[in-house]
Amino acid sequence: MNLDLPQQSTALAKQAADELGAAQDKAELARIKSSYLGRNGSIAALLRAIPGLPSEQRRDAGRAVNEAKKSVEVLFMERQEALRGAALSRASQVPVDPTLPGRRDWHGHSHPVTQAWDEICDIFSSMGYSIQEGPEVETDWHCFEALNIPQGHPAREMQDTFYIEEKVVLRTHTSPVQVRSMLSLDPPMRVICPGVVYRRDNDLTHTPMFHQVEGLVVDDRVTMADLKGTLSEFARAFFGPGTKVRFRPSYFPFTEPSAEVDVSCVFCKGEGAGCRVCKDTGWLEVLGAGMVDPAVFAEVGRPEYDPDKVQGFAFGMGIDRLAMLRYGIGDLRMLFENDVRLLEQF
Ligand code: PHE
Repeated sequence: MNLDLPQQSTALAKQAADELGAAQDKAELARIKSSYLGRNGSIAALLRAIPGLPSEQRRDAGRAVNEAKKSVEVLFMERQEALRGAALSRASQVPVDPTLPGRRDWHGHSHPVTQAWDEICDIFSSMGYSIQEGPEVETDWHCFEALNIPQGHPAREMQDTFYIEEKVVLRTHTSPVQVRSMLSLDPPMRVICPGVVYRRDNDLTHTPMFHQVEGLVVDDRVTMADLKGTLSEFARAFFGPGTKVRFRPSYFPFTEPSAEVDVSCVFCKGEGAGCRVCKDTGWLEVLGAGMVDPAVFAEVGRPEYDPDKVQGFAFGMGIDRLAMLRYGIGDLRMLFENDVRLLEQF
């Protein structure tokens, strides 16, 4: 027997490396492992030979055999990992069947009303307006009384208003936020108030819940011309640069004078004839507006809003209607049916 144990150890480690490197599965790996590292394996045999060596050779021989043992252990572990990795990547290479129907990704996105809401807020923010919000359950005073809508006014009637209690309602418009803004902010002020409002109405063009944006500007010199300029600017920003605006005299209890505001039809570009959307008129009614009635300032009751010192204009518009016109949606109810086939288009 060749008693050069260090040499034998190195040769054994090399041989083990070759065998382990060629092993193709777990069983083969286990067999090789035990043939080297097992109780009757070649490494154990070398260890058993050490006591028979001359004492001055034992230390070097012991170190060499242990190194060989460690190197076989490491090689075994590395090969085991490599085989496991290869098995995993084989599993991920299952062939693709291109004839299978594809799996669709569903992407959420904002509702057209939300998009219009955001855009309206952006446009007015860029003109220096701040955004105010108020409660949907509102007192009779904020919703009607303070806005110069007296007892007995048709807007208060049961068929229009959802009553929670005798003096508590679901707000029928965003105008109460005008009142709340004047109670909490000092003039000069420029606010817009987007929000949900409720009316007892349900047909092709009305839903019991809908969205409005209120605008209010108060300063010591605000005119109807400022109102017209502001709304023209808004209409051009929202509907496109060619949009025209016209004011028609109207009535709201909280503005004087009041106007109904039309924009040139976004579908026929104001042509009129043959257009179903504007019913041949070339115009679309989109909002109500006017100069704040001094009675509203008086009802707010703060010295900062002395009707002899401040003036203001206010306007209110339906966000849903603006969204329909902007995106060409024909039926108001489509906005609230949450049909993904509609929503996906925006
Ligand atoms: N609040 C009115 C409505 O709901 C709209 C409006 C607001 C009119 C502000 C004039 C001024 O119809």
